[in-house]
Amino acid sequence: MQSLDQLYTYCRQCDIPCMSHATRVWLEDFLLQHKPKNIVEIGAAAGYSSLVMASLAQSRWWTIVSSEISRPQYKKCLFHQKAFHQYHGLQYYHIDATQSHQLQKIIPDSVSFAFVDGMKADYITFVQQLLPYMSVGNSYIVCDDVIQYHNKIQPLYEYLSKMQIQYQTIPLDDDDGLLLISL
Ligand SMILES: C[S@@+](CC[C@H](N)C(=O)[O-])C[C@H]1O[C@@H](n2cnc3c(N)ncnc32)[C@H](O)[C@@H]1O
Repeated sequence: MQSLDQLYTYCRQCDIPCMSHATRVWLEDFLLQHKPKNIVEIGAAAGYSSLVMASLAQSRWWTIVSSEISRPQYKKCLFHQKAFHQYHGLQYYHIDATQSHQLQKIIPDSVSFAFVDGMKADYITFVQQLLPYMSVGNSYIVCDDVIQYHNKIQPLYEYLSKMQIQYQTIPLDDDDGLLLISL
């Protein structure tokens, strides 16, 4: 495995979920623009999205903490991290991010960017767990695949509206897109 494009192809061929090309382009653009210091990812799968983020900055601007609930997937992340020589600034953890005591152990005191890509029905829990750690004023939470799974994410929209937290949906692919929460 020599390039992120090859990792993308491998994931698609092996039915391992990974973000779309349009999401990758958007994410790279957003990160280069905002240069967040501390990044948290929920749902690493085989490590494609975290490696996209890590290879972009070569750890000059940010650190990435990435969580994965499945042990086989977590091991794939470590394998791909080694293959891509991305040791600096990227750390994988095998945890269930819905469990606050597990998340608490791995999360930095202040988070400036979070990429949420776990189970859609748990998005509300992930966001609620992350909120106390987000630095107020210039931090963001991005949730992937929010259009196709709109019904599963409805409680999150209701929560954000109730808490008067600013958000916008960004359509990217033919049938999907992102939720950008600004704090
Ligand atoms: C859509 S995939 C992630 C794709 C990855 N972000 C990428 O673009 O390469 C979702 C992943 O979230 C993981 N996941 C689901 N629930 C989780 C939880 N509670 N905590 C951590 N990871 C979780 C799943 O095991 C799965 O590997």
